[in-house]
Amino acid sequence: MDARHNHPAAGQEPGLVTDRNLALELVRVTEAAALSASAWIGRGKKNEADGAAVEAMRRAFDTVAISGTVVIGEGEMDEAPMLFIGEKVGVGGPAMDIAVDPLEGTTLTAKGGPNAIATVALAERGGFLHAPDIYMDKIAVGGGLPEGVVDLDAPVAENLRNLARAKKRDVSDIVACILDRDRHQELIAKTREAGARIMLISDGDVAGVIATAMPDSYVDIYMGSGGAPEGVLSAAALRCIGGQMQGRLLYEDDAQIERARGMGVTDPNHKYTVIEMAKGNVMFAATGVTPGAMLRGVRRFGSGAITHSIVMRSKSGTVRFVEGHHNFSTKTWVGS
Ligand code: FBP
Repeated sequence: MDARHNHPAAGQEPGLVTDRNLALELVRVTEAAALSASAWIGRGKKNEADGAAVEAMRRAFDTVAISGTVVIGEGEMDEAPMLFIGEKVGVGGPAMDIAVDPLEGTTLTAKGGPNAIATVALAERGGFLHAPDIYMDKIAVGGGLPEGVVDLDAPVAENLRNLARAKKRDVSDIVACILDRDRHQELIAKTREAGARIMLISDGDVAGVIATAMPDSYVDIYMGSGGAPEGVLSAAALRCIGGQMQGRLLYEDDAQIERARGMGVTDPNHKYTVIEMAKGNVMFAATGVTPGAMLRGVRRFGSGAITHSIVMRSKSGTVRFVEGHHNFSTKTWVGS
C-alpha cells in the first residue's frame, strides 16, 4: 500500500484518510440495498422489497472497516433477524454508531412511487439519539437562515411568516412538504390558511427533510410527524449539508414512554435539535431506489444496473453524487 495511505500529510488530521474512504464504503452499502430492493419495484410486495434491502445491506457491511454498532435499525433482536439494534457490524476499525434504513419508502417501492431511498448514517460512538420506533413531531428548514427562524412550538402561520421574511419572499412562495396523513389535516389546513403552498408526499420523510436543504429544491420547510428513526437519519443528513431541525418524540401509551426511557431518553418531552440527534463527526449516504427529486432511481437493464447516490460528511461539508455502473454477472445477490 502507498505510504500516503498510512501517514497523513503534515497538518492533516489523523484518521482523515480513513474517514474519506469510509464515505465511499458507505455508498457501497446503500448501493447494495438499493440494487436488491430494485428487483421488487412495482411488484406490490413491500415486505419482500424491505427484506431484500436489509439482507443486502447487512452483507455489504461485512467488508466495511469499522467496529460498528447499530443504534437505529430494524428493531430489537427478537423481532429483526438482521441489522437489529445492538447488532455489531463491520470487520473491525474505529468504533462507530450506525443508523440504517435499508429501504426508506417500502410502500413507494411496492407501488413504483417516487423518492424511495436506501440510507445509512455513521457517527462516532454515542453520536446518535437512540430513538425508539415511534413517531416524532418534526420541523426542518435548510441552511443559511437565522437560528430559530422556525420552532416546533410556534404557531404554523408564525413559522411560515418568519421563514418567508428570512428568505425575502412572500408566504405564498413558500412550499411546505407534509406527509399526506389524516393526522395532519389541521396542519395542512393551517398551512393553506396562512397562504403557503403544500407538497403532499405519500411516504418518505427523510427525503422530504433533506429537500429543504438542497440548493435547487422546491421545498422550503418540512412539517409534521413521521418515524423517529427517520428523524435521526434526517438530522444526520442536515448535520452534513446544513439546516435546522427540531424533533419531539410522540407517545401513544405509557409503554412507549418506558421504552424511550430504556433507550436513554431522560426527558420524554424534550425538543431535540439537529446536534442533539446527531453529534460529533457524522456521515450520511443514500442511494435512490425509485426516481426522486434528489436521486435518480435504480435503472436496471438485464445484465446490470446504474445507481445514483449521495454521500456527505459533517467534517468537510462536502456533498458528492456518485453514479455506479454495476455488472450483475459479478453480483449474484441483486435479485432478478
Ligand atoms: P417505511 O419505508 O418504513 O414504510 O416508512 C415510510 C415512511 O413514510 C417514513 O418516511 C415516515 O417517517 C413514516 O413512514 C411515517 O409513518 P406512517 O406511514 O405511519 O405515517
